[in-house]
Amino acid sequence: MGLMDGKRGIIFGIANERSYAYFIAQSLRQHGAQSLFTYLPLGKMEMRVRKAVEGLGIENPWMMPCDANSDESLDAVFDKIKSDFGAIDYVVHSIAFANKDFLKLDTFHTTPRDVYLSAIDTSAYTLLAMAQRALPLMPASGGGGSIVCLSYYGGERVTPGYNVMGVAKAALEQTTRYLAYELGDKGRNVRVNCISAGPFKTLAGAGVGGMDDMIAHQERKSSLKRANTGEEVGDTAVYLLSNLSSGVTGETIHVECGFSIVGI
Ligand SMILES: NC(=O)c1ccc[n+]([C@@H]2O[C@H](COP(=O)([O-])OP(=O)(O)OC[C@H]3O[C@@H](n4cnc5c(N)ncnc54)[C@H](O)[C@@H]3O)[C@@H](O)[C@H]2O)c1
Repeated sequence: MGLMDGKRGIIFGIANERSYAYFIAQSLRQHGAQSLFTYLPLGKMEMRVRKAVEGLGIENPWMMPCDANSDESLDAVFDKIKSDFGAIDYVVHSIAFANKDFLKLDTFHTTPRDVYLSAIDTSAYTLLAMAQRALPLMPASGGGGSIVCLSYYGGERVTPGYNVMGVAKAALEQTTRYLAYELGDKGRNVRVNCISAGPFKTLAGAGVGGMDDMIAHQERKSSLKRANTGEEVGDTAVYLLSNLSSGVTGETIHVECGFSIVGI
């Protein structure tokens, strides 16, 4: 018996085999879930995402293009889920974007309005946009649902160079809590949680200045004295998306080897 047997949901955010969303898809599959996928309609993304997903042993994956900044694009994805399946049990939000020219040391104070707003739009508002579309597909009569997003400690404390993305992560974590409160109410039983993961070399991670230093710092300072793995993030997502966490909502769980509990 898998923890996720009989559960189906959608994963936003696989770019390749290094993506945190890829490890989440892998863990979900190992525990019996059926996942649906989207890809950013840009360049070779479709091919890369298909290759990664098929590499997990998923044949003929359900995949759709989605630019989460577009309401029409999100509507198309959730309308298709409705017509194909009627309902879903989970959503994984593992997407973020900020102009990397402003993810460098000493550039936060120079951030222009459009760069600030686009970081918050793609990296935080999209969680709300997905949740409002998923809600009708997660009826309480079917057990409700679970939504998970990905954050980083730079949303809680200043991490030089993380800059506007840190502001967006603070918004994402608070969006998680407000959504959790409302979607848990009126018998809806939809839970919303956040994983605050450690620094990891992905496409998005490469855009953040000083990624190697951030990983080395976690290896030195964290309680477990090492970097976290993608698999550890994937397994935590399974916990949050499965019935094991039925009493947990509005939380941000740190998967960074006990980095953020250490003060000096
Ligand atoms: N890599 C790290 O160090 C790290 C640490 C903690 C949290 N995170 C978070 O994990 C999540 C996944 O990032 P990742 O590190 O796996 O990098 P990644 O580059 O593999 O994934 C980012 C994804 O965001 C998608 N995306 C960007 N703009 C989009 C849009 N408008 N519409 C739809 N999709 C869009 C990209 O296509 C990509 O699949 C992000 O929220 C990121 O901030 C990353």
